[in-house]
Amino acid sequence: MHDSLLLFGATGDLAQRYLFPSLLHLLRDRLLPADFRVVAIGRSEHDDEGFRAWLRERIGNGDGRNDGALDDLLRRIVYRSIDLNDIDGMAATLAPFADRPSVSYLSTPPNLFEPACLGLKAAGLLAPPSRLVLEKPIGHDLPSAREIDATLKSALDESRIFRIDHYLGKAPVQNLLALRMGNTLFEAVWQHRWIESVDIMVAETAGVDGREGYYAGYGALRDMVQNHMLQLLALIAMEPPAALDADSIRDEKRKVLRALRPMTAADVGVDSVRGRYTAGVVEGKAVKGFTADSAVETFVGLRAWIDNWRWAGVPFRLVTGKRMPSRNTEVIVHFKPVTHWVFDRPDQAHAQPNYLRMRLQPEETIELGLMGSLAAPEWGATELQPMSLDLAMLPPKRRIAYERLMIDALKGDQTLFVRDDEVEAAWRWIDSVSAAWQQAGTPVQDYPAGSWGPAAAAPFLPRTATGQGPI
Ligand code: BG6
Repeated sequence: MHDSLLLFGATGDLAQRYLFPSLLHLLRDRLLPADFRVVAIGRSEHDDEGFRAWLRERIGNGDGRNDGALDDLLRRIVYRSIDLNDIDGMAATLAPFADRPSVSYLSTPPNLFEPACLGLKAAGLLAPPSRLVLEKPIGHDLPSAREIDATLKSALDESRIFRIDHYLGKAPVQNLLALRMGNTLFEAVWQHRWIESVDIMVAETAGVDGREGYYAGYGALRDMVQNHMLQLLALIAMEPPAALDADSIRDEKRKVLRALRPMTAADVGVDSVRGRYTAGVVEGKAVKGFTADSAVETFVGLRAWIDNWRWAGVPFRLVTGKRMPSRNTEVIVHFKPVTHWVFDRPDQAHAQPNYLRMRLQPEETIELGLMGSLAAPEWGATELQPMSLDLAMLPPKRRIAYERLMIDALKGDQTLFVRDDEVEAAWRWIDSVSAAWQQAGTPVQDYPAGSWGPAAAAPFLPRTATGQGPI
């Protein structure tokens, strides 16, 4: 396990909210190596002590326990102020840290990936077996992603590049695989003959606040669908890998992403909807609208089709939006109705087909929807009712998704990281959607903050999310 971490973007929002707290928890649980050290890198001017004081104020004790872990973490951190566009200066400042194999983590805007990579290379920090971790977004479209990739590859090979999608670090996302592949019951019916449709929804109450500049250039399609939502889709839809090693899984995910049917201008009218929030009320609080001078969406609904044997004809509805009425991330697999219905109560039209519902946020729950009769059948006609089987286990200690990903990057396990060809396949589909929007002139429709998107979004939303009734 590598024991030297160079963290770029150390004064940024992600580092404060997730990366340093993750390190704190890992240290507390004694999951990091004895000589673990962090070189924190940012633009702001601090000396080591100044940065430690700044960080202490921001992350406090993490989960509130005052057991010395924070002091321990701060002791292990040194800070360097660097302008990433000054490659020679960066090389000179960081060369002394090339004394051990390291992991460099770029939590920076994507336009800094290339200079950072060149500076790290010049400092000797990308020589084998050192590794590089990158945050999304990797580019803005396929050509820019390829350009970034070419720079990365000029400095190190794919086996040492770790592209983060923090959704893959979430325990319930890994559980999706466990459930699907650890149970005959599910794998046997996991295909178009038995599955009607799949919903993948990520609804947030948060807005774009504080990230307007970034968001205005990306929008929900590039910010959420290209990565998190397509990764979820790939895990649900991929063929079962023969083994659980990184490449076996990533080979299968790539195949699914490549089988996504490109969107055309003729499809977007039916298979997509875009929205953008205006002022409104969310969770009882008045909030402002998103007013950036750019035509990006803060809500998107898409119907994706996977053109392969397993999924022919099965729509995957992908919906994500900011400033929704409640936070809700879930996947719902809807099974087909039973082939021949023999009951009167209810009649076939009112029978509830089976479903598997996995909620990821805010709570982690798994629910299997079945039909059964709890009324005593000896009293006359059997009456069926929807029953839901709660499959949630006792919640394990909840961890930040980044904890798992940090440990894996330090150990060198790429299973939960995204490979170059997956990124390309995802961009290829996303580019088809945005080109189709442009060609068709698809409007971005307003919706008030605190609503479930524009009126046209209704066919894309899971009924559960919006309180429209049973699944
Ligand atoms: C990030 C996006 O990748 O994921 C954000 O850039 C979004 O816009 C966030 O809010 C959602 O992550 P989570 O873990 O809160 O669902």
